[in-house]
Amino acid sequence: MSYAGKRVWITGASSGIGAGLARAFGAQGATVILSGRNREALAEVAAAVPNHMVLPFEATDQEVLPRVVDHAGPVDFLINNAGISQRGLFEDTVMEVYRTIMEVDFFAPVHLTKLVLPQMLARGSGHIAVTASVAGKVGSPQRTGYCAAKHAVMGFFDALRTEVGGRGIRVTTIVPGFVKTEIGARALTSDGSRKGSAKGDDVDAGISPDEAAAQVLAGIAAGAREIRVGGGTPEMGLLDLKRNDPDALLDLMGQMGSAVVQKFKDQAAA
Ligand SMILES: NC(=O)c1ccc[n+]([C@@H]2O[C@H](COP(=O)([O-])OP(=O)(O)OC[C@H]3O[C@@H](n4cnc5c(N)ncnc54)[C@H](OP(=O)(O)O)[C@@H]3O)[C@@H](O)[C@H]2O)c1
Repeated sequence: MSYAGKRVWITGASSGIGAGLARAFGAQGATVILSGRNREALAEVAAAVPNHMVLPFEATDQEVLPRVVDHAGPVDFLINNAGISQRGLFEDTVMEVYRTIMEVDFFAPVHLTKLVLPQMLARGSGHIAVTASVAGKVGSPQRTGYCAAKHAVMGFFDALRTEVGGRGIRVTTIVPGFVKTEIGARALTSDGSRKGSAKGDDVDAGISPDEAAAQVLAGIAAGAREIRVGGGTPEMGLLDLKRNDPDALLDLMGQMGSAVVQKFKDQAAA
């Protein structure tokens, strides 16, 4: 599928899945608008994208957003991909972590979509996507806030589709399993600090960002409203288990949670 002449805006394009998407859309001829906060990393990714604009901004800065949207100009695609994750038990986690995760993973994509959608509705065409997660469908330990935010974006964008789908606007939810990116290392721990290292993190065993991006573009080309992104990795099987045997899924996740809690207790006792 050629995206020649199309303008694709990707948030979280400085790293991981967003960088993979920027390269993939760029290779298909799109003009890619790359957003994130890290200007150096954005410039590095942009160097591999023939037609691009670098547009750095802090996703949670509500005041700056209207100016950023003006600067981006009309876009054919908006991919709300920026996000942060969490690693820590609820009982240990300060409330600030929950507020930060909801701001970045839920309110930021909702706000950006609110500002970009009117031009799409006026044209009667456009495509809005969000990178949700398997965590947007399955509750898992150490990610209470992340799962909440990702369930929220799944619900929001599925509901938005019901309102705009009949008016020429496509809405796509992207549901990745583990992708080997910086998300684990940058995840917020219970005191709000970054985890700092992805060593031993689940995502370390994931597929590459370029493979994830290829699956997303294939899903878009196939007209999918929900794109599942994964390898033959076990976490993708959780989605099938949820549909086929939801009680078994809850049992399995409970066992996983108990094992995690025990590990924390053992570490504290050591
Ligand atoms: N990796 C996985 O296994 C996995 C699985 C399911 C879903 N996801 C989702 O995929 C998306 C991309 O994550 P990733 O795995 O590629 O992680 P990543 O490598 O850590 O990239 C995250 C991106 O989000 C941007 N970002 C974070 N906070 C921001 C903020 N406050 N303002 C602006 N930009 C911000 C970062 O840009 P700067 O650092 O430049 O600010 C970076 O480009 C996220 O929504 C994540 O939840 C990932």
